[in-house]
Amino acid sequence: MNEATEGTIHEVKTLEIPRAHDARGSLCVLEQGAAALPFEIRRVFYIYGVPEGCGRGEHAHKHSSRILIALGGSAKVRVKDGEREATYQLCDPAHGLFIPPAIWVSMEDFAPGTTLLVLSDDTYDEQEYIRDYTEFLNHKQKG
Ligand code: TYD
Repeated sequence: MNEATEGTIHEVKTLEIPRAHDARGSLCVLEQGAAALPFEIRRVFYIYGVPEGCGRGEHAHKHSSRILIALGGSAKVRVKDGEREATYQLCDPAHGLFIPPAIWVSMEDFAPGTTLLVLSDDTYDEQEYIRDYTEFLNHKQKG
């Protein structure tokens, strides 16, 4: 797990995943120690089969960071830090969206057939989630 950060949307960034591309297609690599991988992966999960009109997320993590990658299809990711917000369109498997702790994240507009891969620097712990937006704003004010 990384040190807690301030968690501003300025820390959210797109990572270029190294890609080997030739006539046979593309192969992307995320290897421990590579610049495109800012943390040690402790958990991998993926989201798929999201019905049209459904959203996911709507929560923040107190301590953990994530990288989101649309392996196929596309989805919109909205990030908020309590003061500002930004939106990213994930549609390229060679791009990862790095999200530090203490950022409110919602995912929407999933194209049919989308698979969203999530890499995390921590194991699953429900106590580490903030699922209420008012609680999130209070958490940010406490610093
Ligand atoms: P949830 O956090 O609501 O998913 P999303 O952020 O995509 O909307 O998680 C859905 C369910 O899966 C919930 O019951 C918790 C469970 N879950 C795990 O058991 N382990 C995990 O690593 C994750 C991310 C979720």
